[in-house]
Amino acid sequence: MPQPPARRPLWRRFLKWLTLAGAAVVALGGVALAVAYWRSDNDCEARRAASKTHPMKAIVYCDYGTADVLRLEEIETPTPGEHQMLVKVRAASVNPLDWHYLRGTPYMMRLGAGLRKPAYTQLGVDFSGVVTEVGPGVTGYKVGDEIFGGRNGALSEYVLVRDDRAIAAKPANITFEQAAGVPIAALTALQGLRDRGKIQPGQKVLINGASGGVGTFAVQIAKALGAHVTGVCSGRNAEMVLALGADEVVDYTKDDFTRRDVKYDVILDNVGNRTVGDLRRVLAPEGKFILIGGGGPDKGNWIGPMVLPIKTLLMGPFVSQEMGMMIAALNPADLQTLGEMMQSGKVTPVIDRTYPLSEAPDAIRYLETGRARGKVIITMP
Ligand SMILES: NC(=O)c1ccc[n+]([C@@H]2O[C@H](COP(=O)([O-])OP(=O)(O)OC[C@H]3O[C@@H](n4cnc5c(N)ncnc54)[C@H](OP(=O)(O)O)[C@@H]3O)[C@@H](O)[C@H]2O)c1
Repeated sequence: MPQPPARRPLWRRFLKWLTLAGAAVVALGGVALAVAYWRSDNDCEARRAASKTHPMKAIVYCDYGTADVLRLEEIETPTPGEHQMLVKVRAASVNPLDWHYLRGTPYMMRLGAGLRKPAYTQLGVDFSGVVTEVGPGVTGYKVGDEIFGGRNGALSEYVLVRDDRAIAAKPANITFEQAAGVPIAALTALQGLRDRGKIQPGQKVLINGASGGVGTFAVQIAKALGAHVTGVCSGRNAEMVLALGADEVVDYTKDDFTRRDVKYDVILDNVGNRTVGDLRRVLAPEGKFILIGGGGPDKGNWIGPMVLPIKTLLMGPFVSQEMGMMIAALNPADLQTLGEMMQSGKVTPVIDRTYPLSEAPDAIRYLETGRARGKVIITMP
């Protein structure tokens, strides 16, 4: 007599169910992502078609791409609402962050910035300028005040800022061009060295990438905090880095700082070109390694820029040294601290090149070469 087929064990039926459910979730997720991708759009067409009552010039981009997609267009000047101020931008500066947004890379960032097209189509963050209009409830600022700070869309003739956001009074001894170079780069250096590095006077601090936007501020801030500073840069920039206050310079084209017989208490890395093993070799047993970033558009669009941060994150719990990446946060208190440091002469922004707003694409192209010496500034019409 034929036997009824034996029932599969419970665990195998559960595994099958789990596999099917997992496949369904992945498939649904894929479809949702594809739909979100094709629906992702921006306001470019509507904005171009709309008539402008108070036009202003701004750098815009409607699609991700190289600096070739940037356009100088007329857009509507914003009107300040409650706690907002309209600022006539006198100068702005560009940061690697800008070409990351422009290119939408690493691709992961498009989950927030717009999948197929940039959701926000203006560029720039760092600015300096003069308050021209204040909205209801603004305290602490008035028309005519000279300020600097960070606000999306800074590559424009005007920006709208809130009175409690990342802005501070511009010191009188600093030009608008210098002040515009400060926000992202100097805040990163300050927060990396003071808050994450917790630098103590006399400690040995190494700045990898001492001649760039972040590096030129980092050398001066580390020195102001009383550290013994070693700057890593190429020979052509050695004199400048020493003049900024570095006690010594390692020319990376001739010498490898990770092979030196020195232990550093803090390493601030703006280049991200060394392995975790190399870095640990020259880090004191209780030392701190702060990864800021590194790499140009050629470093890969997928996970290339994330490899070192992930490695330091994974390694962190198993070593005596503190290792990790830091993301700077724009805030008014730290901008004020930097204002005071500039006022007292402890920090002076270094300007490499200056471009008019209409040539902002060239400024981005130059920054993308990774050869900037200090900050690249944009001046307004
Ligand atoms: N985590 C954050 O919150 C944050 C904030 C700001 C910036 N960042 C990131 O930090 C990095 C640096 O930003 P940045 O504004 O300073 O960039 P940058 O101004 O474009 O840096 C250019 C400088 O890097 C130097 N450099 C290039 N290769 C080097 C190497 N192998 N060794 C030493 N120096 C080298 C160049 O000097 P030479 O021409 O002499 O090589 C140049 O002076 C970027 O990746 C940026 O995205 C992160």
